[in-house]
Amino acid sequence: MSESMNRRDAMGIAFGACAAVGGIFALAGMKKAWDPLPSVKAAGTTTVDISTAEANVLYTEKWRGKPVFIIKKTPEMVAASSDVVKKRDLVIGNDHFMICIGLCTHLGCIPSYEPKNATNKEAFLCACHGATYDQSGINTKAPAPLPMLIPPFKLENGKIVLGEAGPEYEKMKADGVLGETPLQA
Ligand code: FES
Repeated sequence: MSESMNRRDAMGIAFGACAAVGGIFALAGMKKAWDPLPSVKAAGTTTVDISTAEANVLYTEKWRGKPVFIIKKTPEMVAASSDVVKKRDLVIGNDHFMICIGLCTHLGCIPSYEPKNATNKEAFLCACHGATYDQSGINTKAPAPLPMLIPPFKLENGKIVLGEAGPEYEKMKADGVLGETPLQA
């Protein structure tokens, strides 16, 4: 009995060690995915330095208690964008960025990003009830009724200031692409 106990103990320790190592790698992977861009919070605003953003990586910033998604698009993502999709892009030089509040417009869950689907209509998946969104946050499958909302933002010294409306935001508003009305991806 003591031998079988010892074997079980040894197996348990080995399994535990594997699980711990696996957990560390999983945490390291999660940390990379969750690493925010350098940002500064002030009263009602969050200033995000996008100069180090890597293409096709989802960055999540916190602004007024809400997650804000920022993605620098790859040239392939830009090429795959319709004219409406491009109107939701913040363009800085040759770089296109998507910015939106990362809450599903059905009932407010946080959709997950699938980088491998960046150029099709299922870039974001909301696990709550199965809604999908394209790479610019435009809803592409029910039950989401609207695109994810673009928050007020302005550009300042190449950084994005969330919470203040600048000319790029006002242009999106005038074009009717903020996400307050339905859009066709
Ligand atoms: S909350 Fe996203 S599909 Fe329902």
